[in-house]
Amino acid sequence: MNSHHWLNYYQSNKESRLEPKWNLPSPLPRGLQDLLAHSLSHFQLGETGEGKFLIAQAQAEVPDDLIYHEALRLFVAEEQEHARLLERLVQRFGGTIIQNHWTHSLFRLVRRALGFKFEIQLLVIAELVGTAYYRLMHARTRDPVVEEMCVLILNDEARHVEFHADWFGAYLSRLLPMEMALWRTQFQFLFIAAACVAWFDHRAALSASGADRTEFFADARRECICFLRQLELQANAAPCDRSSRSSVACRRR
Ligand SMILES: [Fe+2]
Ligand SMILES: [Fe+2]
Repeated sequence: MNSHHWLNYYQSNKESRLEPKWNLPSPLPRGLQDLLAHSLSHFQLGETGEGKFLIAQAQAEVPDDLIYHEALRLFVAEEQEHARLLERLVQRFGGTIIQNHWTHSLFRLVRRALGFKFEIQLLVIAELVGTAYYRLMHARTRDPVVEEMCVLILNDEARHVEFHADWFGAYLSRLLPMEMALWRTQFQFLFIAAACVAWFDHRAALSASGADRTEFFADARRECICFLRQLELQANAAPCDRSSRSSVACRRR
């Protein structure tokens, strides 16, 4: 994994970010604003968190890659920036920020249960599903401030997915084809479950914005397919290093 590249990316991405024009009045009807505020507040909660658990797990999993730990800290900071943007938008629609929701509690419980790789995997799945949500919001909601915020978040999320794909590509390149197939299968099961939960939770806001179930799942599936292709390319591009210490020692004897 090219940790230096990602650290540079996150450092430069902090600079000169545009700020949506929060003071522009919304052209959307009151009822739709209420639905959006409710839906966005759930995403806002999902973007909060200090990432202490994630970073502690990374330090245990890859103790030598200090640059990766730092890149991961900046990744968490970028998610916190998304939480700030979403909070502003929820407030603009007259909604309130929430502290707890069952989807958030379930997600946090599951992602912490099975170690670092599993946690990163669930973060990627949330980003793939979130990308479908923000893309539909951007396309369907006729509100320039929503569009501006979605562009900011979509740009970041595309790079977050690449960042995690870089890490997973290196990991998957060490798996046997059969293990790789099993990993891909369980990933897709989790992805489908997460997409169903997201649709259930956000269907009212998405439907009222003009998006339907078919469109949401088609978009989310496309994201998942692209991610899996990207992983395959990265895993296949990894150099095939057969010169382990033991084989060198064997040849010398
Ligand atoms: Fe995010
Ligand atoms: Fe993200």
